[in-house]
Amino acid sequence: MSLVLGIESSCDETAVALVDTGRVIRAERIASQIEEHAPYGGVVPEIAARAHAERIAPMLADVMNDAGASLADCDAIAATAGPGLIGGVMVGLVSAKALAMASDTPLLAINHLEGHALSPRLADPTLEFPYMLLLVSGGHCQILLVEGVGQYKRLATTIDDALGEAFDKSAKIMGLGYPGGPAVEKLALQGDPQVVPLPRPLKGSKEPHFSFAGLKSAVSRVHQSGDHSNADLAASFQQAAIDCLLDRLRKALSHHSAPALVVAGGVAANQAIRGALEALATQHNMRFCAPPLALCTDNAAMIAWAGCERLALGQFDALDFAARPRWPLDPQAQAARGAGVKA
Ligand code: KG4
Ligand code: ZN
Repeated sequence: MSLVLGIESSCDETAVALVDTGRVIRAERIASQIEEHAPYGGVVPEIAARAHAERIAPMLADVMNDAGASLADCDAIAATAGPGLIGGVMVGLVSAKALAMASDTPLLAINHLEGHALSPRLADPTLEFPYMLLLVSGGHCQILLVEGVGQYKRLATTIDDALGEAFDKSAKIMGLGYPGGPAVEKLALQGDPQVVPLPRPLKGSKEPHFSFAGLKSAVSRVHQSGDHSNADLAASFQQAAIDCLLDRLRKALSHHSAPALVVAGGVAANQAIRGALEALATQHNMRFCAPPLALCTDNAAMIAWAGCERLALGQFDALDFAARPRWPLDPQAQAARGAGVKA
């Protein structure tokens, strides 16, 4: 049994976790920066980097204490090395490098998206490769065929906003505060999902990708018109988003197959979306798998687990590994057309 220390600092969550290859989270700490960023309605990179730098050392000590472990017990130190807000990523990666150097332990520079992509396997030991993954977070909206550790085929991505971003921006428009996803989901429970006419961008399109910018703009127009309640608008927005997800997944499933449909990333915490995806999986005779909520939003256990998977394959990184603001999971994937470019 091996033990991996994981560090996550790519956005507004500082997180540290100690996970073993037997899938046990021995200890973990997570500190949200919601209060620091809330007055600005979004994450301010400079504030995020400073907050990570202040918190990370005491959190590392706490996790080690909780687990009754020391650095000498760790078989590898894993940290998010990108993609994300570069100041924050550097804080976590440099901390991991210092620990790795001081304890003569291998470093694992983890792609944050790989952390999300493999997180369902931490929660479920029976989930095997390959699986079709919907990765939906604040920064990403992708359909991936996960064929193995480090083997990701991107089937679709967004040509403009990520879905979490659309949730956050719509919440801001409706004055629901930050972060928007959970607030929109809660309000949607009190509204009618069919009453507000909203677009389903790219629904039925020949290309495989997502688009959410037009949906967000429509939310803004409806809100300004004052014709509908926020509850109906939230419910109708969420339904439009679900319709887009299902349409694009059906398109992917018409070209590719896998035994399981898996959802990961912060937006996977949304129960309405989970329910719709589960029904889709059943229709396609696929198993549905979604990690527990705490593993969906950013956390360090998924980074440590991706480290466990890489450790098992003997894939380590050099101490001069540079933090990457951009880092696609599938470097072979063709660029999606940009917003505004005619298809
Ligand atoms: O994965 P994550 O924690 O961070 C990124 O890597 O982006 O995802 C955060 C995103 C935010 O946009 C947040 O609004 C969204 O996930 N989110 C949700 C829900 N909980 C979090 N979106 C919809 N419904 C939710 N319940
Ligand atoms: Zn994330």
